[in-house]
Amino acid sequence: MTPDPPRGTPAGMEWLSQSPTDPAFVQDPYPFYDRLRALGPLVGWTEYGLPMAAGYDVVNAVLRDRRFGRENPSPPPRPAHQAGFWAVEDHSMLELEPPRHTRLRASVLRAFTSRRIAEMEEQITALAQDLVAAFPSDRSFDLLDTFARPLPVRIIARLLGVPESDAPRLLAWSNAMVGMYQAGRTEAQERAAAKAATAFSAYLADIFRAPVPGSLIADLLDLAGQDRLSAPEVTATCILLLNAGHEATVHTLGNGVAGLLSAGLWHAPMTPALTEEVLRHDPPLHLFLRYATEDLDLHGHSFRRGEQIGLLLAGANRDPAAFAMPEKLLPDRFPAAPTPLSFGAGRHFCLGAPLARSEIQIGLAVLSETCPTLRLTNRPTFADIYHFHGLSALKVTLT
Ligand code: HEM
Repeated sequence: MTPDPPRGTPAGMEWLSQSPTDPAFVQDPYPFYDRLRALGPLVGWTEYGLPMAAGYDVVNAVLRDRRFGRENPSPPPRPAHQAGFWAVEDHSMLELEPPRHTRLRASVLRAFTSRRIAEMEEQITALAQDLVAAFPSDRSFDLLDTFARPLPVRIIARLLGVPESDAPRLLAWSNAMVGMYQAGRTEAQERAAAKAATAFSAYLADIFRAPVPGSLIADLLDLAGQDRLSAPEVTATCILLLNAGHEATVHTLGNGVAGLLSAGLWHAPMTPALTEEVLRHDPPLHLFLRYATEDLDLHGHSFRRGEQIGLLLAGANRDPAAFAMPEKLLPDRFPAAPTPLSFGAGRHFCLGAPLARSEIQIGLAVLSETCPTLRLTNRPTFADIYHFHGLSALKVTLT
């Protein structure tokens, strides 16, 4: 049955109710995406009060549609206690649209070169091997703590040129900042996000005084010296790269190990095609929002400027119209199948995708080749948060 839409939300389309904090939903959100997709190209999700898309063609098209953007065209007044957060976020390319986004992204791409990523591959392999060498061989242990968490954060710290030993601090600031994007966040969370953004900026200001030669931070500071980037843009870019650059990769590695083991594919060669399939099958980031930047009609729904739409990337990745038997992890689905939307599409397409793909392919290859007997000791369960679809623990043994 379709419930009544909440007051103030668009009528004229089907509505589905599903609490995003329901523990059963968080464990397996895919049946809900299937129901939503089956009802039409745009269906209201009552708890968000927004039209949502879960079909591949619609999600892909809206991500590439210039009439939708991440930036709120008429932002509400901001309470003073959030100031520290916006002092950073207002300069983050992820939250901007052209022309500022174009300049910022092009500048950062000058520093985030494919040569630099290729150079990191040796380091990713060496670090993955070191982490595996330290596994206990006699008992069950958590693969998230021993492998999936340390790998991406150490790599991004090295790339930027910040001490790896600061990883716990970076993680704590990053988690506090993500709180600002949680539905139903409290004022305490907003204050914590602002405090974290201020502390993160002060920490980086110290690093900027003596950047590691050859590091990405050194390159970004060079660009600031040539007036291509402003000082707040350098800070916001470093924070974005550190935040975006680890958590999603951690959870793709965790979901990937669980998925490969459960599908009996642990011994399959870790090809680029299988990496892509791991990313498609169970990605860590499911929902992104866009604002209509003008009044427009889409699939029978009239959007007013400033109205939001929800894009279910993970729903698009499981659309049977784009991927046959979408629930199955298949090693040879790619390159024939369309590109999955796990990294988004269009102008905000993940800038770190080449690095993330290398970390996932190398990380999973090192694990499966050096630990052929690895198996799950518990059924892995997902953490009770919807904005990151990742495991709370991944208990395995090597016997
Ligand atoms: C943007 C996913 C890893 C840096 C995005 C977006 C997605 C995404 C979906 C687009 C958001 C939108 O359209 O609203 C992922 C996933 C990752 C991953 C699934 C791991 C498996 C990384 C890494 C880095 C990174 C390792 C950096 C080192 C960025 C940046 C943007 C971005 C800078 C903003 C691009 C822009 O606004 O133009 N990512 N990401 N990501 N990601 Fe990633």
